[in-house]
Amino acid sequence: RPALRMDAQDGLLMEEVPLARIAREVGTPAWVYSANTLRRRYGALRDALKGAGLSASIHYAAKANDSQAVLRVLAAEGAGADIVSAGELRATLAAGIPAAATVFSGVGKQAHEIAFALAEGIFQLNAESAEEIEMISAIASGMGLEAPMSIRVNPDVDAGTHAKITTGRAENKFGIAFDDAPELYARMAALPGIRPVGIATHIGSQITGGVSAYRAAYGRLAEMVRDLQARGLPVRRVDCGGGLGIPYRDEVPAPPEALAGAIKATLGELGLPVMLEPGRWIAGPAGVLLASVILQKQGTQKQGTGRRFVVLDAAMNDLARPSMYDAWHGILPLSPIAAKAALSPADVVGPVCESGDTFARERPLPMLDPGDLVAFLDAGAYGAVMSSTYNARPLAAEVLVDGNRHAVIRPRQTPEDLLAQQRIPDWLMAAGT
Ligand code: LLP
Repeated sequence: RPALRMDAQDGLLMEEVPLARIAREVGTPAWVYSANTLRRRYGALRDALKGAGLSASIHYAAKANDSQAVLRVLAAEGAGADIVSAGELRATLAAGIPAAATVFSGVGKQAHEIAFALAEGIFQLNAESAEEIEMISAIASGMGLEAPMSIRVNPDVDAGTHAKITTGRAENKFGIAFDDAPELYARMAALPGIRPVGIATHIGSQITGGVSAYRAAYGRLAEMVRDLQARGLPVRRVDCGGGLGIPYRDEVPAPPEALAGAIKATLGELGLPVMLEPGRWIAGPAGVLLASVILQKQGTQKQGTGRRFVVLDAAMNDLARPSMYDAWHGILPLSPIAAKAALSPADVVGPVCESGDTFARERPLPMLDPGDLVAFLDAGAYGAVMSSTYNARPLAAEVLVDGNRHAVIRPRQTPEDLLAQQRIPDWLMAAGT
């Protein structure tokens, strides 16, 4: 994790900024992102695609981290976007990513979202059903526009990811069954208000078992493109989706060069431009979640006297991934002294009133005192965006680090903010006074 470095004096640094300083300034829990990691990873992906001789565009999946500052860093690198809602489209447009570089995915696009995307001049809509294609045709014709449409094909490959985030199996809700796609593509081409531009797929997220699943899926896409072309149907590009995994623990995901190679080997001969929709690979390693130790609780007789609970001020409402997917995140103490201390197993938990509010079990950690700081690693993707205010816990602050500079990019929510969003029916007001 090149953006993080342990300094003998200042403890854990992100780029040039001591994370303990940020924790002092903004409090904890706090999300901190490295601008240069975002830039470097975007660049590595772009170079790998170019290196394979592909004409490729990168559409960052805004769902991974839709912070305006993060989107702006990527917009400045030339990134396009992959969005799944009108809210995300507003966010990417506000950050300077043109609609003409943005693809709209998702099984449940609403009429107002489709109209908004078309009015803005969206690059491509990925249709996930025949019903949706009819709906888009009607909306676009009504607006006197042609919707640039791709069909999201479900290639029925098993990408070997967690059940909750796999998407490319036949039984998933996503996409159009492989065998139905060519006929639907032909029907779509005949509809008013629609310009068919290609096919798309996305087989899952956090893919770490090499590129064999990608190869299988893209091989099937290539087969389908040839089939469509043989039927005289126009295919202008292929959207290869996202999903490239990162090493949270000891996984060995394929490098971007291997993914680029798999695309080249399967789709290269078609000579069509390809698109990629990476989220986690770009943003995941760029972020940490800072938390403070509230206390260390020694297990009672029943819990096991040897058991140690480290209770943090961050909880499952902040970082949901461990409770939701049993996800593993590295946990590093920020202090240079703690970093050298002897380790013993600890359960790391948050203060929310659920057993599921557990970040790690039997994790080797030094003894920690109240107020000590830790960082959850690889929390830049699907971190802050999945937060909730469960237990009336305000959303945590977000900070961007860029070289030796840092700035708050979202102030911590206050308990007053939570109350300010609520309304009390007048008859209850009367009863209470
Ligand atoms: N394209 C489509 C159509 C998607 O559904 C997704 C993610 C992506 C691209 C980006 O995938 P990525 O490159 O980030 O793997 N909350 C889960 C991950 C859910 C992913 C949903 N779709 C997690 O925390 O692991």
